[in-house]
Amino acid sequence: MNKKEIYFSLVGSLDRTLNFFGFKRTGKKLSKIYLDRPSLQFCRERWGYKELVGVEVGVWKGKNAKNILSHFNMRKLYLIDYWDRSITNEGKKRTQDEFNKIKEYVYNYFSVNKKVQIINKLSLDAVKDIEEEVDFVYIDSSHDYETTIKEIKAYYPLIVHGGVLCGHDVKNLPIKSRGVLKAVYEFANENNLIVFIDQPDWWIIKP
Ligand SMILES: C[S@@+](CC[C@H](N)C(=O)[O-])C[C@H]1O[C@@H](n2cnc3c(N)ncnc32)[C@H](O)[C@@H]1O
Repeated sequence: MNKKEIYFSLVGSLDRTLNFFGFKRTGKKLSKIYLDRPSLQFCRERWGYKELVGVEVGVWKGKNAKNILSHFNMRKLYLIDYWDRSITNEGKKRTQDEFNKIKEYVYNYFSVNKKVQIINKLSLDAVKDIEEEVDFVYIDSSHDYETTIKEIKAYYPLIVHGGVLCGHDVKNLPIKSRGVLKAVYEFANENNLIVFIDQPDWWIIKP
């Protein structure tokens, strides 16, 4: 190894060690890792650097998936999206060609990461392709009540005891988010579960 390689290898080890303890380095400045999704921050604090299996339902351009991969020690991350303009409200603002380009970008970006499995299906079909228990499921797909309640019911059984079912978009104002809240509370009430809300996220710990 030359000097440059030794330097980068040491810096890499330092960054992995800091990550292990929940810190990150920007130049010489140290700061605590803070994920912009409160439910995932909760998971990070709950499990630290434990090896995990997770699912993201609704990937779009992969922004949150990148976040998960850089802040968690993932053994496997399932990324589920159908990238079809007919299934989302956002779709109405974009052509199917734009959806296809985004899908292609996500496939290319994550193709080098062997821990990632992309499932290009509707969420309720994709769940059948996951043949193992998972530590967390993050739901951020259609945000309407009908789909969300079905997704919650379909994905909850995959989660290990002590695992976390969580998701995005329970803000006060947008009407679409009321569907998420309604589905989350309905499922929790039927199953005697506690709902945690830290906007814009929600989560439930599986007993
Ligand atoms: C808000 S975006 C996801 C954003 C992503 N979680 C992030 O934070 O970077 C919602 C995504 O869910 C996908 N989606 C919506 N309904 C779906 C369904 N029923 N099955 C699969 N994907 C769906 C859409 O194609 C879209 O890409």
